[in-house]
Amino acid sequence: MVNETGGDEAILRLDGIVKRFGGAKALDGASLLVRRGAVHGLVGQNGAGKSTLIKLIAGLHRADEGAIAIDGTVHASLTPHLVEALGIHFIHQDRLLVPTFTVGEALFLGREIRFPGTPFLDRRAMRRKAADILERYFGLSLDPSALISELSAAEKQIVQITRALMADPKVLVFDEPTAALVRREADLLFKLIRRLSADGITILYISHYLGEIVDLCDTVTVLRNGRDVATLAIAETSAAAIGALMVNRDIGDLYPKPDVTPGETLLSVSDLALADRYAHVSFELRRGEVLGLTGLVGSGAKEVLRTLFGLERPTGGSVQVRGETVFSTDPAAATDKRLALVPEDRRRDGVALPLSVKENTTLASLERFSRGLIDRKAERGQTEDLVSRLQIKTAGIDALVRTLSGGNQQKVAIAKWLSRQSEIYLLDEPTVGVDIGAKVEIYRLIGELAERGAGIIVLSSDIDELLGITDRLLVFFRGRIARHVPSSETTPEQVLADVTGAEESLRHAG
Ligand SMILES: Nc1ncnc2c1ncn2[C@@H]1O[C@H](COP(=O)(O)OP(=O)(O)OP(=O)(O)O)[C@@H](O)[C@H]1O
Ligand SMILES: [Mg+2]
Repeated sequence: MVNETGGDEAILRLDGIVKRFGGAKALDGASLLVRRGAVHGLVGQNGAGKSTLIKLIAGLHRADEGAIAIDGTVHASLTPHLVEALGIHFIHQDRLLVPTFTVGEALFLGREIRFPGTPFLDRRAMRRKAADILERYFGLSLDPSALISELSAAEKQIVQITRALMADPKVLVFDEPTAALVRREADLLFKLIRRLSADGITILYISHYLGEIVDLCDTVTVLRNGRDVATLAIAETSAAAIGALMVNRDIGDLYPKPDVTPGETLLSVSDLALADRYAHVSFELRRGEVLGLTGLVGSGAKEVLRTLFGLERPTGGSVQVRGETVFSTDPAAATDKRLALVPEDRRRDGVALPLSVKENTTLASLERFSRGLIDRKAERGQTEDLVSRLQIKTAGIDALVRTLSGGNQQKVAIAKWLSRQSEIYLLDEPTVGVDIGAKVEIYRLIGELAERGAGIIVLSSDIDELLGITDRLLVFFRGRIARHVPSSETTPEQVLADVTGAEESLRHAG
């Protein structure tokens, strides 16, 4: 039975939620109704308030105004403990797994099974339950004694999901689950979510990949500036329409790319090898060029990028920068040669969370501002320019990066490296976690760097992005360059086949 408020169908209902941080309103009257059994998408630009909304439901923050009802009951004060007891579990954006825990500790802490009527832990039952879930949903086993810090991003996520499933959840909330995953892993996650949904679990799903939202969800709510501006049935909308609602304008050309005639060779890599990670890697990068790199985890693409920046010591081959052979295994020396790396794990390697936006963006280029004294005016001017171009949502350039939303922290890391006048840019997944409006702006910045004569290498697992913004593409498979093509002469299907080695296995099978 559905009453006029939808109370019986609504497993989760938020009404007129306001949440302030200091003077700023993260949520400004947001409402959300999630029906039992739905796969409900939640989208919005970076800083729109998605994670804040989730944290309110999780009992991690408290709303200043508004009401939250779970299963028809309004709870005046939610605590993480109560919310879990009510069957709502979370895969948060800022992953909360403790790196020094073992897989077993991460899985079982707070999920203890005891011998009935005793305080004693039934470790065997706990292990069996975890193993069952891992086998049933993921078709794999994880060693309970392995350290969390040794796991890949995908495995960490599996641990988080398994931990949630151990509690027999009614609702599972995913905050940008695919941001850390490569395409194949993401496909596995979608299969999993469909199965969980078929098993009767309600899903609330946050993502910046609107294609995912359209494929996976049946309903979507768009947040803008802390308010819900639309809730739509997926069958009646499209990714483009959702994107336009998010940014409140047409996005226009998704992949802006200037026509640049390549200049002299900046980087020349020949027969580069790194132990058992990759070998026979040769390519050149010229001024004005955007070169794409892609491949699955372990394909060697990421390791090549790290080697170029001096983070790995090659075991063979050579690298020349502007015609000069370099032997450096030191990021400082790479920086001297005017290389810049935007690392993928920007929360860990890319930004200093306790410093301000301004301090972060000027950190990498301090010497430019410090001929004698730090030129405060130039520093502010440049930071303000980058903040406005990348649409970094912040209370001001003196706000601490810690207080920014996940996507806006990413943008600060990118701004930090762009504020440095480099010639060779190595960008590792530059648009992960970034909203669609800012993505296009990052593509424009890449185009501008190329026009100014820089060479740019973009490592990405977003095939449409790669084909849209690069001139040439190197596809890695099992430590080798499987294909090297002009981006205009290949297709997404071909790249996907190369990435997964589909033809390779066909050849072997045939
Ligand atoms: N602890 C905090 N202190 C101060 N401001 C905060 C805090 N947490 C969030 N905010 C602010 O609230 C706003 C909403 O942030 P939130 O993290 O909910 O955004 P989001 O929609 O999840 O964005 P993203 O897509 O980047 O993850 C942002 O402007 C952010 O700076
Ligand atoms: Mg967020």
